[in-house]
Amino acid sequence: MRVFAHLSDLHLDGGERADARAAAVLDYLGNLARPVEAVLVTGDLADHGAPEEYRRAAELLEHPSPVLVCPGNHDARAPFREILLGQPPGDEPVNVATDVGGVLVALCDSTIPGRDAGYLADETLVWLDEVLTAHEGPSLVAFHHPPVAVGIPLVDAIRQTGQDRLAEVVTRHLGIAALLCGHVHTGAGTTFAGVPVRIAPGVVSGSLLPVEPGADRGWDEGGPLDHEGPPSLLLHVLHDDGRLTSHQRVVPFSG
Ligand SMILES: [Fe+2]
Ligand SMILES: [Fe+2]
Repeated sequence: MRVFAHLSDLHLDGGERADARAAAVLDYLGNLARPVEAVLVTGDLADHGAPEEYRRAAELLEHPSPVLVCPGNHDARAPFREILLGQPPGDEPVNVATDVGGVLVALCDSTIPGRDAGYLADETLVWLDEVLTAHEGPSLVAFHHPPVAVGIPLVDAIRQTGQDRLAEVVTRHLGIAALLCGHVHTGAGTTFAGVPVRIAPGVVSGSLLPVEPGADRGWDEGGPLDHEGPPSLLLHVLHDDGRLTSHQRVVPFSG
């Protein structure tokens, strides 16, 4: 049984709160009975895209399993690439494909520099099509921004657009077990182009549906977010038949 950990939206900002919440999640992963196949982090690792935020992310994300990352709208491509990937700094999209024991994990850059909404650049979609074509077997495709609305107005307004182009690529490749996203700050599941979409909760905070208490809070009162609940993550089980079952785990936390 292959298990992949999936966390998102650490928003490391140099403060103790975000740091402690991310550390609690990594502690949880470090205490599992067996290491996971890989740890996937779907964006917003830093809050301001500052080099020192990535240096701290690199320390926190030291783990025996491969740690695979993609940027979110709070990240900055050049320091992300230089500090987390060990590559020369550059502003082109950060797209990374890794074969993890026969499973292709393709992490795509859905960010638009300087904006909060998402879009997969043409070169990213061409790259994704190529790596999926070259791989035989199951795959996981990850990016920060969900390509569909999820019922939370705050993030639906800044979701990924241009998604019909992504749908064309997705429907060409039958081995995609799921699309893995962040950005929403709540654990959620939906579908896109006939494929499951699994959204990891935000390590730093939760977001609220309009039916939940506090969803109408203004930003001067903390916004429509849950800042109190403990951090959580997803553990994805990839079955031999290609299905993905996703389990959400709340992490012990006293902060
Ligand atoms: Fe975020
Ligand atoms: Fe985001």
